This record gives sequence, structure tokens and C-alpha cells, in this order.
Amino acid sequence: MTTYNTLTLEKNEGIGILTINRPKMLNALNQEVLEELSFALDEVETDFSIRVLIVTGSGTKAFVAGADIKEMKEKNAVEGRIFSSLGNAVFSKLEQLRQPTIAAVNGFALGGGCELALACDIRIGAENAKFGQPEVGLGIVPGFGGTQRLPRLVGIGKAKELIYTGANVAAEEAYRIGLLNKVVAVEALLEETKTMAKKIMRNSPLGTEGSKKAINQGMQMGLQQGLVLESEIFGALFATEDQKEGMAAFVEKRKAQFENK
Ligand code: HXC
Repeated sequence: MTTYNTLTLEKNEGIGILTINRPKMLNALNQEVLEELSFALDEVETDFSIRVLIVTGSGTKAFVAGADIKEMKEKNAVEGRIFSSLGNAVFSKLEQLRQPTIAAVNGFALGGGCELALACDIRIGAENAKFGQPEVGLGIVPGFGGTQRLPRLVGIGKAKELIYTGANVAAEEAYRIGLLNKVVAVEALLEETKTMAKKIMRNSPLGTEGSKKAINQGMQMGLQQGLVLESEIFGALFATEDQKEGMAAFVEKRKAQFENK
């Protein structure tokens, strides 16, 4: 386990659990959290023992209640832009992480908290999860990717409604609009998230990594360009042990033993 000032990174049986740890502030994201998150993500990216990363918040009340309003309050225009750029750089690092990522959303995921969950590949919410982008009520706009990732995930109309009204969305509604992949009981959140992580881990690491790259990069391209990218990634995997093992195991009617190479 690595303990930072504002977060922890546990590693167990191939699963990394990154917990934002400022419970008294409902895990609000200040400059220090973003900087430490960046270091922790570098640690995950280069750690071959970690196959899936879970991102969560400490306590049961909040995943992350947003960027730290008390710290943001006195910023000028330049400082505001730099803070937004820092968050966007760190969340993009999370989005592009080699490993699949799952947000385990416990309680409030507001503003920057919703945006943190959006930068993960998959979102599982406890029944008390509440999403929202309340920034317009503070005289700002979402600044850690909400105006870009939310419409890509739930559609432009719904994203505009959520951002313009600043209204909170409860777990079941978040599931209905595609913001959550699954809703589970509060006390089962971490176990259910680990169960999904283990399902992913049964498959080849290079296959999941290649799929993630094809989807993420493909979403920024036209269809034909994306299909070319897919074929390139598909072809490259035939030079790996994982592809040889996966197909041999099928033919030999046994379970594949993938070695991430
Ligand atoms: C700083 C925060 C905070 C935040 C909560 N706290 N959210 N501090 N920034 N985002 C602090 C409170 O001030 C309080 O500290 C303590 O955490 C507990 O919160 P309470 O408000 O007492 O709890 P409760 O009454 O249960 O209300 C929970 C809540 C509310 C509904 C989540 O805290 C809330 O509305 N928080 C702000 C949500 C928000 O607007 N988020 C978006 C931020 S803007 P004290 O010391 O006072 O007791 C954003 C922009 C991202 O995220 C992009 C930036 C570039």
C-alpha cells in the first residue's frame, strides 16, 4: 500500500484500489489531491502486478463532492485556467491508463467528482450515489472534462439538462441514462466492484488494453479511421504470447493462462 497525504493506493491480487482520502471535506479535490493522483497513476501505469484499477472515495457519504471550492474561491482568471488544465491533464492520464478502470461511486459525485467518475472506463454506483454538475450555480462551468465527457456518455440533450439545471441525479436515474453501469447495495459496493474487476482479469491483459485503446482513440476519429486503427491493434496482437495462449487454450479445451506478454 502506498499512502499519500490525500489518497491511498492499495494493491491486492491484481487489483489496485485508489481511494481519495479527505473525508472531512467529502473528498473534495484540491491542488494537492490532483498532484498526488498524478503520481499514483504513474505508479499504477508502471506496475505490472496491477491488472484493474478501482477508484473510490473514503467513507460512505461521498465519492468526491467536487473541486475544493474553498481553495478555488480566491483564484484569478489565469489561476482558474491553470487549475482546470491540471485537472484535465490528470483525468486524461486516468482515462488513458493502460489498465481498465472502474469507479466505485459511494455517495456524492458532484462537479469534479462526477468528472472523475466520467474519466474511468466503467462506473458502479451504490444505491446512495448522487451525480451532478452544480458548477453553473457557482458562476463557473464544469472544468475537469464535464462539458466534453458527459455529452459523449449520456448524449448532448441530457448533458445540457444536467449542466444547465445543476440538478442531482440519483443512482437509479444515473443507471437509466447510462451514467452508471450498475447499481448495488451500499455495503456491497466494493465487493461487487471487485467481482467485475475479477471478471475482466480472466481475460488477456493485452486484449483488454488493446480494446481500451481502440475504443478511446476511435471515439475521437471518423468511423473509417477508427476501423483502420482497430485492424492495426488486432493484427499487432498476433505477435503476442497472449493470443497464442488464448487460442491454443480454446482448441485444447482448457483455461487460458495469460502472462501479459
Ligand atoms: C470544499 C467542501 C466541498 C467542496 C463539501 N465540502 N464539498 N469543501 N469544496 N466541493 C465541505 C463542507 O464545506 C463541509 O466542511 C464538509 O465538507 C461537509 O459538507 P457539508 O456541506 O456540511 O455536508 P452536507 O450538508 O451533508 O452537504 C453535502 C453536499 C454539500 C450536498 C455534498 O457539501 C455540497 O453541496 N458540496 C459542494 C458540491 C459542489 O458544489 N461541488 C462542485 C464544486 S465545483 P465545513 O468545514 O464547512 O464543515 C467543481 C468544479 C470542477 O467541482 C472543475 C474545476 C476546474
